[in-house]
Amino acid sequence: MRLKAFLLSMLFCSLSLGGGAELYLKHCSVCHGEDRLGKVAPPLFPFPPFFNLKSDEELSKIIKEGSTGMPAFKELRDDEIRVIVEFIKKPIEKEKLEWKEDRIRESLHSLQTEKLRIKSLSDYTLVVERGKNSVWVMEGERLLAKFPFSNMHGGIKFSPDGTAYIPSRDGWVGRFSPQEGELKKVRACIYLRNIALSADGRYLAVSCWLPSALLLFDRDLNLLKRFEMEGRVNAIYELPSKGAFVFTFRDKPLVGFFNPLDMSLEYRSIDTPLEDFTIDPLEEYLIASSKDSLRIYSLDNLRLVKEIKAGGLPHLASVSFWYSKGNFYFATPLLKKPVLSIWKAYSWEHVKDIPLRGEGFLARSNYKNPYLWVDTSSDSLILVDKRTLDVFEITPYEGKRATHAEFTGDGRIAYVSLYEKEGALVLYDGVSLKKIGELPASFPAGKYNYINKSRRLEAAGLGYQVFMEKCWGCHHTTKPAFGPPLRWSAQRREKALIMAQVLDPQNTYRLLGYSRNAMPKVELKEEELKALINFMEALKDGWMD
Ligand code: HEC
Ligand code: HEC
Repeated sequence: MRLKAFLLSMLFCSLSLGGGAELYLKHCSVCHGEDRLGKVAPPLFPFPPFFNLKSDEELSKIIKEGSTGMPAFKELRDDEIRVIVEFIKKPIEKEKLEWKEDRIRESLHSLQTEKLRIKSLSDYTLVVERGKNSVWVMEGERLLAKFPFSNMHGGIKFSPDGTAYIPSRDGWVGRFSPQEGELKKVRACIYLRNIALSADGRYLAVSCWLPSALLLFDRDLNLLKRFEMEGRVNAIYELPSKGAFVFTFRDKPLVGFFNPLDMSLEYRSIDTPLEDFTIDPLEEYLIASSKDSLRIYSLDNLRLVKEIKAGGLPHLASVSFWYSKGNFYFATPLLKKPVLSIWKAYSWEHVKDIPLRGEGFLARSNYKNPYLWVDTSSDSLILVDKRTLDVFEITPYEGKRATHAEFTGDGRIAYVSLYEKEGALVLYDGVSLKKIGELPASFPAGKYNYINKSRRLEAAGLGYQVFMEKCWGCHHTTKPAFGPPLRWSAQRREKALIMAQVLDPQNTYRLLGYSRNAMPKVELKEEELKALINFMEALKDGWMD
């Protein structure tokens, strides 16, 4: 009898020890959090419709074999893995999912990193090494330092002085300052959508799915304001020329504008909820996708300007704009289809669909780089010549998946990821396409260059391309040619006077102190002029040359 009780209690004991909750606490909680809300790894619980866990088979596989940033648990038996999977699939009570002001403020802390002096911000690029949960600081070809950061998601933003803001899927936002040698972190929520930084670097907006909220932080990650939201915020972007932020909802026909100066939040109605959206570099249009079509709204009055049927859902989070032979273009892969779509901006026409070897995700370029670099879920990238739309392929390594191109600010170096456990960051000469270097890396993912990721410089980049086509024969940027260097003008003349000279030199040259006019009237569309003026501003401030 006593033996039976003893055996029973042993059995009970081993059963409870082997229970999912205990196994989870023992093996998983250090990274995923005791409460499953995530810590240095993502939250592990279902929360439809925001996120679902993967299938049982996939979850078991991740636990057994590990994944990009996670160790393998080879010692766990199949039955143990099964109970862990059962455990992480249990929902969490609603009250535990609150993440309000006090919790956010409590989470703020900082880590010391190496103090770095970046000589050329244009060459300053952060590279996410997913397999090692770290971020690299690069300047051109050189790797300067690494610091820890896991689960980066949604894109890094830079303030004018080079401070970087790095979001993670599980709600953390890091503030990395190379010159101060500091990584500050705050947990804004449990599940984060994306972040946006005001052009002056003073305000950081964070959009969250769990809990559904919009948060505003100052440049030091102090929480200024938290707005609870109803609905699923799609994405948030900064509008540099308006000093505001714009966001939309996936489940509501609304566009929100948020002004950090007076903390005003304003909603305007549109005709339909939007799947995804972006803003053109000149900040005149909201380009959205909804049910396999591209919808263009005027940003001023949110009137639908044009609807263009697309062969699938354009991936607007990765859209690349350029200018060539008098036209503005943009391109993006279609999600879940092996196609790159190219459109004309401002006249809003579909130009061409380019078949890809596999599904593309990112179409990347730089204002000085002649190509559009598109990944294809394979070992090759498709390169599209932005002038001719001719297409060719590069294969950094046969059989190794090539993804996510990024560039130095001047387009001189292109970085491509070999997204493998034993992968690499491959460096190309951006124009001759010769391989110029290679750094071993485990699952290198996103790469973010200071110039390419500054929204305020996007319009200037287009302006540079207009300048190369329409003015370069007579003007250079910093040296005199037939006409004076444009930087010289930008630094000395009023914007209105520069515009007058460009639009009507015949009636302006005297105002500028010339005794005769040698500059012809150059025919410019409104957008070309706007882009040019942005470029001259960037020249003036030394961001471009
Ligand atoms: C040393 C830290 C660490 C430990 C311990 C750890 N994980 Fe992870 N896990 C991660 C990281 C980091 C990720 C993020 C995904 C990536 O980068 O691959 C992750 C991702 C996952 C994912 C995929 C989540 C998704 O939404 O795609 C699952 C599932 C998971 N872990 C389950 C577990 C379980 C179960 C355990 C315990 C048996 C565990 N992990 C232990 C670090 C850890
Ligand atoms: C055919 C040559 C030519 C072309 C093309 C040309 N310019 Fe000029 N530009 C000049 C010359 C020469 C001057 C100096 C004034 C003069 O002699 O008339 C000048 C003057 C200017 C000035 C005023 C310089 C000052 O004193 O501050 C600006 C600004 C300017 N150009 C901008 C442009 C832009 C922008 C474009 C392209 C859209 C352009 N120009 C195209 C020849 C040209």
